[in-house]
Amino acid sequence: MARVVVTNPIPTAAVELLRSKHEVVVGDSETAQELPGLLGGADAVLTLITDRVDDAFLDAAGDQLRIVANVAVGYDNIDLAACARRGVLVTNTPTVLTDATADLAFCLLLMATRRCGEGERLIRSGALCEWGMDFMLGSSVQSRTLGIVGAGQIGRAVARRAIAFGMNIVYSARNELPADQTEELGARRCGLAELLATSDVVTLHCPYVPPGQADSTHHLIGASQLAAMKPTAYLINTARGAVVDEGALVAALADGTIAGAGLDVYEREPQVHPGLLGLENVVLLPHLGSATVETRTAMAHLAAQNVLSVLAGRDAVTPVSASAH
Ligand code: DGY
Repeated sequence: MARVVVTNPIPTAAVELLRSKHEVVVGDSETAQELPGLLGGADAVLTLITDRVDDAFLDAAGDQLRIVANVAVGYDNIDLAACARRGVLVTNTPTVLTDATADLAFCLLLMATRRCGEGERLIRSGALCEWGMDFMLGSSVQSRTLGIVGAGQIGRAVARRAIAFGMNIVYSARNELPADQTEELGARRCGLAELLATSDVVTLHCPYVPPGQADSTHHLIGASQLAAMKPTAYLINTARGAVVDEGALVAALADGTIAGAGLDVYEREPQVHPGLLGLENVVLLPHLGSATVETRTAMAHLAAQNVLSVLAGRDAVTPVSASAH
């Protein structure tokens, strides 16, 4: 029996699956023992995006640690180099959260373009529901261009939703999509500069890569990129907050450089830039991309399967290196 540490509570079925084979401890903020104490002697750890997996974390676990299974598709909370140095395998949970995250991105797109957050705040403030010919008009999405930055599984799932709404698709990505996907989505690949200049809605689906690393996406969207967008355009971010320079976004939303934005992620989570809070033209959600019962259950199950596979001496189901964001 190996020792499996689950840093925070996850759906019970996944814990039971692990318990059927191994000794499992589940931490949480209520646990008397602090996380470093719990980690000691772990052969496998299931982590959440709120856990920082760095040298200190790995030291606390010890040399016997074999796998860190992140219950998320993103893994910017994990120092991959530190894990590689110690021979610790890292896994994530791609695919199972694709539809939930794409749904939420499209929800933000519609909320931003149709001013849903603003309208809901108005009603909740006690205002009457007074219909008016030119009252609170938003923008239609039909026949408009959606620019998708990062055409991985989630980006492509957003494209499928956009097609159903009559949008045209352009995307920027390192590689051209295979012919069948290009045909299915009717999508054209272009550079980021052209995408920003021509899209009516720009939606971000690239992984966060910190500054200093190859292909860093830190502040991929800053003041000059926002200035390159149409003044009628919207920015949607369900990827990672620091892909956007949040200070520059606040300025662009406040001075009308772009029309609006929809955000599910923030540069300094859990903090939200105070400048966003007073703006009517931005929809703000609390990182809900994968937050459905079904999806979180599937994510936890996949993370548990990764742990069981590796502890049984088999290949991981979804190792990070082989995953497509
Ligand atoms: C992920 O999976 O990376 C999400 O951000 C967590 O819901």
